[in-house]
Amino acid sequence: SQFIIGVDLGGTNIVVSAMSLDGSRLFGSQSEPTLAIEGADAVIARMARMVNTTVGITMKEAGVPKSAFLGVGIGAPGTVDRETGRVLAAPNLKWYDFPLVERMAELTGLPVKIDNDANCATYGEWWLGAARGGRNVIGVTIGTGVGGGIIIDRQVYHGSSDAAGEIGHITIDLNGRRCGCGNYGCLEAYASGSAIAERAREALLNDESSVLPSLVNGDHSKITAAVVYSAAGQGDALALEIVRETARYLGAGLANLLNVFNPDVVVVAGGVTQAGEALFGPLRTEVRRRAFKSVSDACRIVPGTLPGTAGVVGAVASFISQTTGHPPA
Ligand code: BGC
Ligand code: NA
Ligand code: ZN
Repeated sequence: SQFIIGVDLGGTNIVVSAMSLDGSRLFGSQSEPTLAIEGADAVIARMARMVNTTVGITMKEAGVPKSAFLGVGIGAPGTVDRETGRVLAAPNLKWYDFPLVERMAELTGLPVKIDNDANCATYGEWWLGAARGGRNVIGVTIGTGVGGGIIIDRQVYHGSSDAAGEIGHITIDLNGRRCGCGNYGCLEAYASGSAIAERAREALLNDESSVLPSLVNGDHSKITAAVVYSAAGQGDALALEIVRETARYLGAGLANLLNVFNPDVVVVAGGVTQAGEALFGPLRTEVRRRAFKSVSDACRIVPGTLPGTAGVVGAVASFISQTTGHPPA
């Protein structure tokens, strides 16, 4: 049997797993903080060490030699050039024109392919998750950034220079909040995990009754999106309002995409799915309000079903499709 290593290089965490070629089993899964602040060299070294550890664990557990590993697929959080293997612009890592494939191939001794992280997550959900069987699929990932993936006729759409699917950077407010990409009013500036936390902190300035401060011992800087979802789960009015507003921004952005692509599935992945119906209820309402009826009727909007693994699964799928020219079996 043969294996491929999948790497989900996120703005906050790196996740690595080995997967059998048929997608049936994951081995040697590991997760570590990215710590982008330490610089690209440190991140690359950490990622390569994790890959090598995963290879070692898998060799033991599956009883296979190193030659059983076909290569490494990496989902990177920015625009990439799959041909040259370079990350062109990853604002949340502050990497610009970085030779990721060359560096990782050196450190692992394996063939390496890259794609955008959200393209990978969307492809993973299509292969083995919530969007299985879908023909035209839009994926949105909410984490450190807001990522997107577009599948048209069962193939990931990469566009003319590999940058298609940057859903986080569609403009939802002409004069809106500043985004990490340099633009103003991007969806990511409202709906990313960090933006959700920031909007909650701002709302707290005019609030006395929320439980949020008590969840972080009064230290507002410790408020993360996960804390907001958990407060919303406890029925906290301020947190619920932040989630509802996030759903409306996302819904408006998605309604635009629905009207353009007329997909049969939208899969929403990332920590935000922890908010459950508090998010998906108003999200579906907003989409229905803004998109054509025939378009929204044709589309189901669902949470991802591979939390934590969609990225690595899709990075493996992307490696397979880039090296064989056809989708994974
Ligand atoms: C980047 C995307 C990425 C997303 C999630 C965005 O800021 O532009 O390329 O997919 O963050 O990491
Ligand atoms: Na993308
Ligand atoms: Zn932006």
